[in-house]
Amino acid sequence: MPSPLPSRAHELSADEQSIYRTLDPARIPKHVAIIMDGNGRWAGKRSLKRFLGHQQGAESVQYVVETASRIDLPWLTLYAFSLENNLRRPKTEVNFLMLLLRTYLINNVQRMNDNNVRIQYIGRTSELPSEVRDKMQWAAEATAANTGTVLTLALNYGARTELADAVRAICSEVAERKLTLDQITEQDIQRHLYTAHMPDPDLIIRTSGEMRISNFLLWQIAYSEIFVTDRLWPDFRGIHMLEAIADYQRRERRYGGLSDGTESDDIASLPANKVLVPR
Ligand code: FPP
Repeated sequence: MPSPLPSRAHELSADEQSIYRTLDPARIPKHVAIIMDGNGRWAGKRSLKRFLGHQQGAESVQYVVETASRIDLPWLTLYAFSLENNLRRPKTEVNFLMLLLRTYLINNVQRMNDNNVRIQYIGRTSELPSEVRDKMQWAAEATAANTGTVLTLALNYGARTELADAVRAICSEVAERKLTLDQITEQDIQRHLYTAHMPDPDLIIRTSGEMRISNFLLWQIAYSEIFVTDRLWPDFRGIHMLEAIADYQRRERRYGGLSDGTESDDIASLPANKVLVPR
């Protein structure tokens, strides 16, 4: 295993450093996932075409990726293009998003390498146009040796489809008698997800103020902390991710349990008339 690179936190901007210094380095999340929303509204507020909002959104992607790499965030996952975007947006917008993705990869692979970032993808990527898939593969191969932040782009991704794909794979194992129905566990579902090799997100961020998950990583976010900001994605920078991490560190994660030190009630010690008893 190559030795870890020295921390690059000193490369953060002065504003980023002032937030980073307040963080507990031992509790930096392992995995941050972001629903990037608001490109269209950003453009609309400026009387610009939606395309320009997406183009500005691609700039935000690179800023956030570089901040992630400077704080040694192990996993960063970005919802870049959903199955629903593919099916429900006008063809011209879908084509533009595909062109933007190719351009982003061509323009940023060198910077990913400079930042020790490895890129990978989740989603039904086989359904994307071949010229996009070629560039995706090229970028994945060109960054494969990097050992820092893993940038995962969710492309043509839908969580329900991911779960349907997992169910289909499990059914095949049952049909091939590798597994019986009684043996199926949560782990069998987990190992068939597109994210089988990744930890679940600790923190999920959504921009543009919408309080919804939009079919993103439904299984994986069972215990994720959710941070919603009104900021539109093209205005989102690394410093805003650090603010979200600071908020995350102020929360207590209980995974359905109790806070440390909480005494469990002793039912026998409660006054009989205060306890609900079956009649
Ligand atoms: C939502 O904006 C955003 C998307 C459709 C996907 C995110 C795409 C980008 C950030 C562009 C480039 C990405 C990469 C990886 C190069 P919206 O159009 O839904 O905004 P609205 O809700 O304000 O209309």
